[in-house]
Amino acid sequence: METARNNLRVDGARLWSTLMETAAFGATPAGGINRLTLSPADGRVRDWFRAACEAAGLTVGTDSLGTQFALRPGRDSTRPPVATGSHLDTQPTGGRFDGILGTLAGLEVVRTLNDAGIETEAPILLVNWTNEEGSRYAPATMASAAHVGTFTAEDILARTDADGVSVGQALASLGIVATEPTGSRAIGAFVELHIEQGPILEAEAKTVGVVEGGQGILWFDGTITGFESHAGTTPMPRRRDAVLGLAELALAVERIALAHGPSAVGTLGEAVIGAPSRNVVPGRVRFTLDIRDPRAATLDAIEADVRAALADIAARRQLTATLDLVWRQEPVPFDPALVALVEREAEALGLAHRRMVSGASHDACNLALKVPTAMIFVPCKDGISHNEAESATPSDCTAGADVLLQTLLTLANR
Ligand code: GLV
Ligand code: MN
Ligand code: MN
Ligand code: MN
Repeated sequence: METARNNLRVDGARLWSTLMETAAFGATPAGGINRLTLSPADGRVRDWFRAACEAAGLTVGTDSLGTQFALRPGRDSTRPPVATGSHLDTQPTGGRFDGILGTLAGLEVVRTLNDAGIETEAPILLVNWTNEEGSRYAPATMASAAHVGTFTAEDILARTDADGVSVGQALASLGIVATEPTGSRAIGAFVELHIEQGPILEAEAKTVGVVEGGQGILWFDGTITGFESHAGTTPMPRRRDAVLGLAELALAVERIALAHGPSAVGTLGEAVIGAPSRNVVPGRVRFTLDIRDPRAATLDAIEADVRAALADIAARRQLTATLDLVWRQEPVPFDPALVALVEREAEALGLAHRRMVSGASHDACNLALKVPTAMIFVPCKDGISHNEAESATPSDCTAGADVLLQTLLTLANR
């Protein structure tokens, strides 16, 4: 495998200005982004993205789940495209880099190739995957999962948000019209640039993370049900308080994750009291649980421990509880040859780099089930992500985009 050596570099200032321009879509007063998938703000950034891709000479198609595919032809149109991209949706209190950095870096690669008059052998495909985040519709990365056949498009289209709005209805409300069925788009390889979303690169003063794979994930929806009663008259020993059950569960999850550590993590991210009232003992809570570890067997062991803890809590407090698995993402290794290529390109660019496993889920983890896949990470400030304070430097974003440029060039000209 020959690695192309050239002096081609992205325009870091142009990449940064597109990042700052698009940060207006869904901007929050605290400097973050609220751009839930298929929300009006997501619709506006999608329209911006399509127009920018078309202005760069790309042909944009949309699949049944709203994923946007922007194609730059190659000399050999029979070759499957070398694909890159990420997502444009955010968490409700998200930042300005999670997702959109990878998508706009792909656009910057295309613009750089255009400016230099470079035609590649294989086509290059830039993708904006619908609903990477999973905060409005579960699971996360649903569109790329459907693309590789883990779910059918019909199944995903019927999923509803907390207000009962289906994915299909949300697509229609934005006027998104499919031009191709989900899963029909040819992809030969996939390379995604993303901020690390954790503290390792910054702490070790590395510019590039060469990602070897993604860890496994379990998502649960749960309920705890007790009995609503008067806050002033119900003696403490007689209460069947659902919130106290949840409080014990939250601490049990922490204890269990620590016991299976150091890589295991567990998060009780959503907790909603049914019919909340200041002077009612809570009778019902709904919650979500997110558990991750790079080892599949550890995920199984944690799940068993959490179920046992919940059963014990419920029995002691006279509560009933449910815990439904809504998503399991297996730990996934990326393609060793493609990972090694990313590493060589980072090295050739003179960038400090290290190998690592992704703690976050990414669309790349689904693509890896079907095609050679790799990811490039760049540092983010204090390792903070899924937070409005999320921040990355122009020079790190530029460095990551340069690694992406060189990796795509090598793959497309092979
Ligand atoms: C998505 O951002 C996830 O890793 O949960
Ligand atoms: Mn992301
Ligand atoms: Mn995210
Ligand atoms: Mn993510």
